[in-house]
Formats: sequence, structure tokens, C-alpha cells
Amino acid sequence: MNRKFCVAPMMAKTDSQYRYLARQLTNKAVLFTEMIHTNAILRGNQSKFLDYSEEQSPLVLQLGGNEPEALAKVCLLSNEIDYDEINLNLGCPSPKVKNGNFGAALMAHPELVKDCLSAMTESSNKTISVKIRLGINDENIFESLDKFVSIIAETGVNVFYVHARKAILGKLSPKDNREIPPLNYERVFQLKKDFKDLEIIANGGIKDIIEGKDLFSDLDGIMIGREAYSNPRILGKIDSTFYKSNDMKKPLKEITENMFDYFDTLKSKSEIKRGLIHMHGLYSGLKDARRIRVLLSNFNYFKKAKMEIISLLDNQYSKVA
Ligand SMILES: Cc1cc2nc3c(=O)[nH]c(=O)nc-3n(C[C@H](O)[C@H](O)[C@H](O)COP(=O)(O)O)c2cc1C
Repeated sequence: MNRKFCVAPMMAKTDSQYRYLARQLTNKAVLFTEMIHTNAILRGNQSKFLDYSEEQSPLVLQLGGNEPEALAKVCLLSNEIDYDEINLNLGCPSPKVKNGNFGAALMAHPELVKDCLSAMTESSNKTISVKIRLGINDENIFESLDKFVSIIAETGVNVFYVHARKAILGKLSPKDNREIPPLNYERVFQLKKDFKDLEIIANGGIKDIIEGKDLFSDLDGIMIGREAYSNPRILGKIDSTFYKSNDMKKPLKEITENMFDYFDTLKSKSEIKRGLIHMHGLYSGLKDARRIRVLLSNFNYFKKAKMEIISLLDNQYSKVA
């Protein structure tokens, strides 16, 4: 799988409806599911886990968890589903996740992570990867990061998505943990120098795809989260910029029509509502963006909204102007 450009996993955002939208703009970008905890899957709440569709490939399933046996069981189940990769979340700082001792809290327990990853690689028919932070709390990331990576790389896992800041656990909210600990791209470059055989994908604070491509050209790829959600039109340039392939260049009108056609195929009101919300960013910066957002926000009106939005768009292209 070519990971030159990845859209970061985001809870309540990178669900199936968002991924459908993203695939209107790029064939090639690697997409991720939201994090799904092993317990949810094993206790039978499998809707997100099973929500795979071939058109969303390349698609990575992201798991949360800290029990080797449970992770192995989920990997076995996912052998029947065509996800392209399974990623273990070692970067989430939320208090709930910290109390459950998974996500970023696991960076304090490299041996446990190693057991988790070994169990996953032994039971899965897919590539296993990790998403990490530079470290946690008051760790000295110049020492601790290489130590952590070298221990877990012993499992053969060699794909690392690195959010280029520390996580401060128990003191900052998840939102603050994405903004307050300073970005340190230099540390990510050093990690690649120290572990040349590992695939290192940089994440955190990247907004401009061209600048990102240039800045991280010594690495194996970049991953963008918030900007790809709030301004999904940037995805319209990914295929030519990163993959030497033609951009899809669908007019926004066509993308909008495709989304509404897709809503007709969805089973539940909540899925349609989520899809409508994900569309908000699609029009950001356009003259009628405000009006369109109002139209998309009223679920009871959404069928009529379609015609009005389409008439407002008047063949504007999916590319960022
Ligand atoms: C709303 C939201 C939810 C997130 N959920 C997840 C998640 O489920 N798993 C994960 O590994 N990271 C999650 N993240 C972190 C992102 O994947 C990414 O690492 C972070 O936003 C930094 O990248 P950015 O600056 O490009 O947004 C989330 C971020 C946001 C904003």
C-alpha cells in the first residue's frame, strides 16, 4: 500500500459517510476508520467494524485495546473483511482511554505493546501498523522514543504513523492535547534517520498539501486529519500531487448529487444526518457556503435542499480555487 498521503482516523468524523465523501475526491489517499475498541467488536457491537466497502479501499481499520488475546480475536475476525491494514492506536490521550489503559497510555508499556502486536501479526493476514505520539508526559523524547520504537519493531511491525507531539495524560483535554504540546517535526526526521527500514508517516498540524509534501519528502508519507475534514476539497489534488495519477476533477455539483443519491441507499436517519454534517466543509470558502450549511443542517428539509444547493453551485469544480 502506498501511504504517501493518509487521512487521519478521527472519532465521530471518519465514519463510512465521510469516507464515501472522501472517495468522491480521491481514489488514492489512504483512509482510516474511526478507532474501534476490541471490546465493542467482541461484545457484538459490530456495525462500524463491518461497515467496509470495497470502494473505500485503501482503508485501514484502527483498533483500540490492550489485551493481546482480544486483539488477536478481532484480527482473526477481520481476516474475512478486506481492510488493507490494521492499525493499533497508541496515541489517543482522552481520559476515558487513559483510564482504560489503551491509546497513548500504552506508550509507557512497550513490553505489553509488543505482546499486543505479536498477537496481532500472528493472527492477521494483513499488515499491522501503529499510530504513536512522540512520547507521554515528562518523558525525554530524545531517548524514550527510540527505545519504545526499537522494542516494538522487534515484532516485525514496520509502519509507524507519528503524531509529532507528546501526549500529556490526565492534565489536558483531547482537544488541547492536539494543540498545546508543541509540534516537533525534527524529532520525526531523526526517527527516520535512526530507523531507516521503518516506514514513517508524519502527522500533526499539516494544513497545506504542497508544503507538506515538500517538508516531509525524506519520510514515507504524510497524514492529515482536521484540515481534510474541515476542507475536504484539498483531497481533490491528492492523486496528482502524491500519486502521479489524474485528479478526479468532479464538479462540486456532481459530488453533491452523488452524496444525495448515496443517502437514498442508507438505512438509518442517523447515517444520513452524519453524511449531511460531513458535507459542510465541502463548500467552505464559496460564496454561498453559509446558505448551503444552513440547508444541510435541516434534516427534515434535506430532500428539497438538494435542488437548492445544486442550483447554487453552478459547476464549481472540486479543486480548491
Ligand atoms: C475529532 C477528532 C477525533 C480523533 N480521533 C482519533 C482516533 O480515533 N484515532 C486516532 O488515532 N487519532 C484520532 N485523532 C487524532 C488525529 O488522528 C490526528 O492525529 C490529529 O488530529 C493531528 O492531526 P491534524 O493536525 O492533521 O488534525 C482525532 C482527532 C480529532 C480532531
